[in-house]
Amino acid sequence: KYKAVIFDLDGVICHTDAYHYQAWKALADRMDIYFDETINNRLRGVSRMKSLEIILEGNMGAALTDSEKQYLAEEKNNIYKKLLENMGPGDLSNQVRQTLNILRGAGIKLAIGSSSKNAGFILKQIGLGGYFDAISDGNNITRSKPDPEVFLMASEYLNIPKEDCLVVEDAAAGVDAAIAGGMDCAGIGDEMELKLADYHLKNFNDLLGIVLM
Ligand code: G6P
Ligand code: MG
Repeated sequence: KYKAVIFDLDGVICHTDAYHYQAWKALADRMDIYFDETINNRLRGVSRMKSLEIILEGNMGAALTDSEKQYLAEEKNNIYKKLLENMGPGDLSNQVRQTLNILRGAGIKLAIGSSSKNAGFILKQIGLGGYFDAISDGNNITRSKPDPEVFLMASEYLNIPKEDCLVVEDAAAGVDAAIAGGMDCAGIGDEMELKLADYHLKNFNDLLGIVLM
């Protein structure tokens, strides 16, 4: 049914949520801005700049210039990148690795579709540098999820029509992006939040039943 699978990275292939949280929290604390896990959940799948805007909502967001915002986003990213150095091949679960290998062995093309500009570094850290057939990430897009650009670019890089691609997502913004791009989508995580997805994965390897049926 599908010729390719396009995976979101953060929250699907590996888990960087806690590092994003710690880095945003450090910035928010320094600025004396309230930040908690609930706000952090709203940042999933959203670009760095848009995330900063969400954090600054109702605080001093409107009073800051673009270059001040750039500076703050960079400050967060420097903390975040330092934390990513803690990641290694142990942060890739056996189930994810095995599922990817089985799909690949069956001739399915595999791509990444992530809003992150750190996707390449994260993949290298978890031992998947050079593994995917295509990587579409925060560096090749101008509009982040829920815009479909990142997934459409992935299907273009793979040279596989979007109708033949399945997107795997953990965030509502990502499911919305897949739908906006006219692609089928499998959600992994909170079923209520991802209710618009075509399939729901209880476990990552449920993907095999969907793609290889
Ligand atoms: C992913 C994460 C988001 C993050 C975005 C940008 O989509 O789920 O939480 O804001 O990437 O990440 P970056 O590494 O470029 O700051
Ligand atoms: Mg995600």
